[in-house]
Amino acid sequence: MNRTSSPASDLAPIVEDLELGDESLDMVELRSAQPDQAATLGAACGENPLLAVLPGLPDDKRLAALRDALWPQGHLLAIYRIDANGHITRLALKGSETLKATTHGPERTVLYVRSLQHALGQTTTRAKFDANAEGWNGVPGSPTYGHYRWMRKLLSDVSQASHGERVLDAGCGAGWVGIEAALAGGMASAFDPSPAMVEIAKRNAETLGVDLDARVGFVEDVPFNKPFQVVLNSGVISFAPDADVFIDRLDALVESGGTLVIGDLNPESRGFARRRVRPLLPARELNGLPRSVVEQKLTDRGYVIESKWYYQITFPLPEFMALSEQRLGGIGCGLALLKNKLATRMDHATGSHAARWFDSWIIRARKPGSPG
Ligand SMILES: C[S@@+](CC[C@H](N)C(=O)[O-])C[C@H]1O[C@@H](n2cnc3c(N)ncnc32)[C@H](O)[C@@H]1O
Repeated sequence: MNRTSSPASDLAPIVEDLELGDESLDMVELRSAQPDQAATLGAACGENPLLAVLPGLPDDKRLAALRDALWPQGHLLAIYRIDANGHITRLALKGSETLKATTHGPERTVLYVRSLQHALGQTTTRAKFDANAEGWNGVPGSPTYGHYRWMRKLLSDVSQASHGERVLDAGCGAGWVGIEAALAGGMASAFDPSPAMVEIAKRNAETLGVDLDARVGFVEDVPFNKPFQVVLNSGVISFAPDADVFIDRLDALVESGGTLVIGDLNPESRGFARRRVRPLLPARELNGLPRSVVEQKLTDRGYVIESKWYYQITFPLPEFMALSEQRLGGIGCGLALLKNKLATRMDHATGSHAARWFDSWIIRARKPGSPG
């Protein structure tokens, strides 16, 4: 491994493109894009952003294999391909673009990598959701709004919270899971690390005339100090750098004999398997856990699993809904929602085994002990 901390001047256009501000940059040279190079790359991953240079222009499939081998030591965030004429093409999660600036030298590929601690760190998470808070809210009147609300309501309904119970929506985003619980009669509280999301959650609750005590905080650093009868956690655990610490903190929020409902993306689905051929994926998708793994973590802590669900039909339904919303004025979204509801009920009624066919899962578990 050849590791330096100052990139060669021929990489200046890439360094500039990354807009890293004052951060210092680490560099490493790889022999190839073979997965065996992941150990070298992982060892070079530290606090600083890392550029890895390798010879040639390996295809997406090879880079996807390297990305998988690198996780969880590091997260591949962007790929720069430099052709024989010095043209540089950047591939990032938001798409591909050729840089205006050119360079010189042989064909090579430059990988931009960050550590897991950075990719899923508190600063990154907060900034990510603050930056696009409205994008995580449902848009009333849009063709997919019914689907958006149905997914949140399902998680709240699975909790079977009784009227007047104290319910906490941990990692509330725009607040809809907690709001659904409040609409069903719960006394709802909520928190999220993103102040912008918390503001939206408060606004959504106010619009519907429900009380929601919404605060800013992480599951790992909770802004409430009293346990709740019901804790809801929807779409958050895949952002946790350490799932065991995360579940321990959730557990501390649940009263003895109380209910914990966790839901998240399902990495075992056909749709997620198809996405893995792409060389770049959000850290959350690499970090997502199968339902069975979370179930085991809960039973290891003495919880009794009461109810299990898969929901949200996988490829091609989400793609169809997005296309329908963007290009067809929403034609078909209502039918897709109906299909989703029926498939979810049917899977649940038949024992919920269809991991490949759904993009999300839910577990309801009861904490040992009797209510204090
Ligand atoms: C995919 S959104 C889900 C939001 C909401 N629960 C829902 O189902 O609509 C993920 C949310 O989790 C929050 N989050 C990420 N890491 C978290 C953590 N460690 N503790 C609490 N919330 C977290 C984010 O700020 C974001 O609002």
